[in-house]
Amino acid sequence: MDFDTTLAARRSVRGYLTREVDPALIREVFALASHAPSNCNVQPWHTHVVSGASLRRLGQAMTARAQSGSAAAPDIEMTGRYTGVWRERQIGSAKALYGAMGIERDDLAGRAAAFLRNLDAFGAPHAAFIFLPEPFGLREAADLGGYAQTLMLAMANRGIASCAQGALSLYPEIVREQLGLQPGPKLIMGIAFGYEDPEHPANAARTDRAALDDLVTFHA
Ligand SMILES: Cc1cc2nc3c(=O)[nH]c(=O)nc-3n(C[C@H](O)[C@H](O)[C@H](O)COP(=O)(O)O)c2cc1C
Repeated sequence: MDFDTTLAARRSVRGYLTREVDPALIREVFALASHAPSNCNVQPWHTHVVSGASLRRLGQAMTARAQSGSAAAPDIEMTGRYTGVWRERQIGSAKALYGAMGIERDDLAGRAAAFLRNLDAFGAPHAAFIFLPEPFGLREAADLGGYAQTLMLAMANRGIASCAQGALSLYPEIVREQLGLQPGPKLIMGIAFGYEDPEHPANAARTDRAALDDLVTFHA
């Protein structure tokens, strides 16, 4: 795939085959991701890749926590309240997903069940949990976005599907507990990855993008 085709081919995949990605190929894409630029080249990310039964255990624990009704306690508070054009775009992506899955707007139980699939990484055989080490803040967190996209493009170029997931950062204590991690580094996001299940209805969802001139102002 040439680069532009890879860019267009990457999209969020929310239904996976159980087939695992070859460990050497996993190492290859994470090595490629390390080409991402960062402030002063500090590379302020540390990633934990969790696979197979360990990922299912983690998913079950997070799902149980969510179903218990106890509040999520992400390392980075989720304060985003989308209004105006941002709200319209948010609704557009939700409509695309729930529409593809045949879930009606007023089907609250269906929407809740669809959301819970997040916590099991949509059944993917692998997930990357990306942490921002202390003492970094917002400026360095931006570096993680570039790292995540570089990783997902390297995957897309090799036929590996992915989905960035803020939802996988909702219960960082469970992730730390199950992976035996010390407190400190902040869990920013997870990325589910593996091979796409082309039959899964969620994977028929497609998002659009705003017009270029709404997103970029070109100054002479
Ligand atoms: C940082 C980040 C967090 C995201 N979190 C979630 C998530 O928790 N659950 C989910 O289903 N999609 C999540 N997404 C995927 C977005 O919904 C998706 O990228 C967007 O709708 C555009 O669609 P596309 O990726 O198919 O182009 C996230 C994307 C990013 C970049």
